[in-house]
Amino acid sequence: MPGFIDPHIHFPQMQVIASFGTRLIEWLNTYTFPEESRFADKAHADRIAGLLCDTLIAHGTTTAVAYCTSHPQSVDAFFEAAGVRNMRMIGGKVLMDRNAIPALHDTPQRAHDETLALAAKWHGTGRALYCITPRFAITSSPEQLEVAGSLAKALPDCYIQTHLGETPEEIAYTMSLHTDDIDYTGIYERHGLLGRKTLLGHCIHLTSREVDVIAGTGSVAVSCPTSNLFLGSGLFPRGRLLEAGARIGLATDIGGGTSYSMLRTLDEFYKVLQLNREVHDPLSAMFQITRGNAESLGLEGRIGTLEPGSEADIVVLNAAATPEAALRMERARDLPDELFILQTLGDDRAIVETYVAGIPIRTLSRST
Ligand code: GUN
Ligand code: ZN
Repeated sequence: MPGFIDPHIHFPQMQVIASFGTRLIEWLNTYTFPEESRFADKAHADRIAGLLCDTLIAHGTTTAVAYCTSHPQSVDAFFEAAGVRNMRMIGGKVLMDRNAIPALHDTPQRAHDETLALAAKWHGTGRALYCITPRFAITSSPEQLEVAGSLAKALPDCYIQTHLGETPEEIAYTMSLHTDDIDYTGIYERHGLLGRKTLLGHCIHLTSREVDVIAGTGSVAVSCPTSNLFLGSGLFPRGRLLEAGARIGLATDIGGGTSYSMLRTLDEFYKVLQLNREVHDPLSAMFQITRGNAESLGLEGRIGTLEPGSEADIVVLNAAATPEAALRMERARDLPDELFILQTLGDDRAIVETYVAGIPIRTLSRST
């Protein structure tokens, strides 16, 4: 199959995964912000960025869209590690100027200057693509969101990513800070941050107006099921979004998410949709983590496909990689059944090889 694509991951949160007992805001304050402050140290950022790339490759993921931290050196570390492995990776410096911890706060001016410099340095360098990254409307002042909007205008080829509608508490807090706006989506809408290059993480708790705005602007609603279950955030309304014509992505959201595996992510997505009384068929599921996510990035000609002329990011899978899966595979009826076994029982053990731009590198990266 084409290599898997993960359109929402936080690379500085590799050591936040499996942090006990909190929901979103407390989880950010207790675990995540202190951990991200460690990325002021370039050597630490280099170590984690290298481990991120190798871990993704081990799980069959060949492209990811990452939040770095507010430190420019974390972005350098991320793209340097991706460049060494020739991976098509997308990412950017997190913009956040309030409501976190001082060690992570930038300013609207720094957000502007550092984003411009990093995008000039990395966007289109090798396979790297840049993403303007205001974390969310709680940690960006209206002035900083204004800057993010002007960056979006100045850098129309770059992506934009942020978080939206993840928990009821987050939404209430957000609206208490942005009293002039009609709803959470309206904040990003007013600042010119929505459009076909925009990736909106979570999108769980939305009004029908918000669903229509997401669909109407061509923004992508990116679901992160392992994170949404782990943090108790809620169930992604895939049916409502599709009905409105919205574009959809599926991602891990490490380290709120609990697995690097897009197969494990599909398994949890299936269960979330079961609770919504929606069924996700196995062919659509495998489409989502390959060509579907590529389409959500506008990269369907290059990745997420095995078509001649594409970039040859490929994963070789074994649906019978464990004794339990092999036993179940004895009774596989057809291809959809085999794929469903793969997503329900599979993980990194099902990944036989991962090719990045035509080069088999899974075995290579695991042995170093
Ligand atoms: N909202 C703002 N920042 C984050 C983050 O790091 N993880 C998740 N899950 N939600 C967020
Ligand atoms: Zn996130």
